[in-house]
Amino acid sequence: MTKKPKVFISRPIPEAGLELLRREEVDLEINRDERVLTPAELIAGCRGKEGLLCQLTDRIDADFLDAVPGLRGVANMAAGFDNIDIEAATDRNLPVTNTPGVLTDATADLAWALLLAVARRIGEAERYLRAGKFKSWGPLLFLGADLKGKTLGILGAGRIGTAVGKRARAFEMKIIYFDPRENPALERETGAEKVGFETLIRESDFITIHLPLTPETRHIIGRKELEMMKPGCRLVNTSRGAVVDEKALVEALDRGRIAGAGLDVYENEPRVHPGLFQLENAVLLPHIGSATVSTREKMAEMAAQNLLEMLKGRRPPNLVNPEAWKE
Ligand code: GLV
Repeated sequence: MTKKPKVFISRPIPEAGLELLRREEVDLEINRDERVLTPAELIAGCRGKEGLLCQLTDRIDADFLDAVPGLRGVANMAAGFDNIDIEAATDRNLPVTNTPGVLTDATADLAWALLLAVARRIGEAERYLRAGKFKSWGPLLFLGADLKGKTLGILGAGRIGTAVGKRARAFEMKIIYFDPRENPALERETGAEKVGFETLIRESDFITIHLPLTPETRHIIGRKELEMMKPGCRLVNTSRGAVVDEKALVEALDRGRIAGAGLDVYENEPRVHPGLFQLENAVLLPHIGSATVSTREKMAEMAAQNLLEMLKGRRPPNLVNPEAWKE
């Protein structure tokens, strides 16, 4: 890099990522407030900058890109990039990167935390104890569901779906998956079977979602699919909220149409459908799938590395829109 490139960082990130950028003598401006900037604030921060390191909470759309034409690279510190209008970025020859791989295990672990919590009614039971209602062990107290021998349906068998499947072996579950692509590694290592979408919906005792949010996957779980599920089915979502029709899910949980849901993501984050708060059979987390110390450090480093490569005019390792890249 000839002169010090200017970079805007939209939220505080782990020091490891900042270190990398500082070492390369990048001129950093960081929003130090732990909140999402308004579109106008994000534009103001990016004015005169060549690089942006942003989060899934930042909306990067055509209006934003037109307001800051000097940007030469956008590094999203997330695996998902549905917060970015990729077509608009590509039209403007603006490379965009993400941080896949490094958050696979943390997110798979959290999917399992939710699956176990919803199977064994952990949230409900803890609330009961904290409310001072625990008076004695009870033969009928908080009876939940077993895992052994049950069918786990993995919707989206990419990196995270595969890691979730591998963990299911320890619980001796039968695994089925739906994905446009075959996953021979998952099949070989877990005995998982690839099935059609409807079969997965109908036959699973637990469904765990690991799909990216795209126009095709928006509301892929809607009223119709919820009606098809087994009455005892429990749904876990650690991907993106809008993959599920949240209103239809609230109704299905409320009617006892399905047995429970473990959610880390919501259709209109940070808003949560008010109906969910009323439901004892919903376990609700605030989008913390990748939230471990070392995972977030790796994500920050990966985003910083991607940004540095773009600023140096080199193809970044995690480019999501190769069409935008001009050698
Ligand atoms: C988190 O949701 C991510 O996509 O990294």
